[in-house]
Parts: sequence; C-alpha cells; structure tokens
Amino acid sequence: MRIGVCPGSFDPVTLGHMDIIERATKIFDKVIVAVLNNPAKQTSFTVEERVTLLKRATEHLPTVEVDSFEGLLADYAKLCHATAIVKGLRALSDFEYEFQMALTNQRLNKGLETVFLTTSSDNMFLSSSVVKDIARFGGDISTLVPSCILNDIKQRLRSEERRVGKECRSRWS
Ligand code: PNS
Repeated sequence: MRIGVCPGSFDPVTLGHMDIIERATKIFDKVIVAVLNNPAKQTSFTVEERVTLLKRATEHLPTVEVDSFEGLLADYAKLCHATAIVKGLRALSDFEYEFQMALTNQRLNKGLETVFLTTSSDNMFLSSSVVKDIARFGGDISTLVPSCILNDIKQRLRSEERRVGKECRSRWS
C-alpha cells in the first residue's frame, strides 16, 4: 500500500491545502494529513481544533486520515510506513526551504521520498496567514477556506481579534 503524508501547521486549513490533499489521494492509496503539534510555536488554533477542522473538511475523501504529530517528521513517516511526504510548492521562494527539508528528511529516513505538487494558479497567493489577516478584520474568506468550516474559522478568528483588542485596550487605559 502506498501511503503519503501531507504534513503542515494547518493554522487553519485553506483551499490551497485542500487542493494538495485531494490531488495526493489520486497518487497514494492512503493519505495521512499530519498536523504538527509544536508547543514552542504560537498558533491561532489549538492542535485539537486544527485536527477537527481538517477532519470535517476531508470527510468526502475516504482514503484520507487526519492525525497530529510531535517531533521529527522523518520519524513520524517511518512510524506510519509512509512511502513519501507530499508538499505543495507555490512559488520559487518556497523551493529553497522545501529542498532543504526534503534532503534532511531523506538523510533522517533513508528511502523516504518527498513529492512536490505545484499549487493551482488560483491558490498561488494563498496561505493560512493571509486567511487569518483577512478574517480578523472582517474581510471575506469564503473563497479561501472550505465552505463547511467557513463559519467556525470566521467566528474563532473574530473572537481572537476581540480578545487581543480588549487586552491591548486595558493595557493602555
Ligand atoms: O505548514 P508548515 O508550517 O509550513 O509545515 C512545516 C512542517 C510541519 C512540515 C515542518 O515544520 C516539519 O516537518 N516539522 C517537524 C520537525 C522536523 O521534522 N523538521 C525537519 C528537520 S529540522
């Protein structure tokens, strides 16, 4: 069985991620979407929230499993018996970092391949940070995230914005 791992922060999942995950299901028998749980990195959504959103967004894909992992991706891939890591490339600027990661993961887990899928031109500009910036200020993200989780993402980011705003105001009052 060919198993592909799609790793990422998914903070939150976007239509760009979904495009890569959906295309990966055409190449691999099973696709594991692996959410990085890195306590040292500040995220807007908890790892549990990110996993829940991804599970709902991939409900229509029977060969997709959503999981979280800590530590090295190369070790996690070995644990899952993955054939390859699947990453999306948006632009040339992504390449240098991804190339370094692919070589590192290959060194750590001999035989582990990294498969790069070029992002659809529609999603070239898209990232979780872009989604968060727009949503926090009430902008329209309906064409950027899966429709089944649109309201959850909007509410969550708006409440975060209100909380941070309140903290700032009380600090300065
Ligand atoms: O969505 P992101 O934040 O670009 O995803 C990055 C991710 C999770 C793929 C990358 O940070 C990762 O693999 N982290 C696990 C730690 C690791 O294995 N690092 C590589 C060796 S230094």
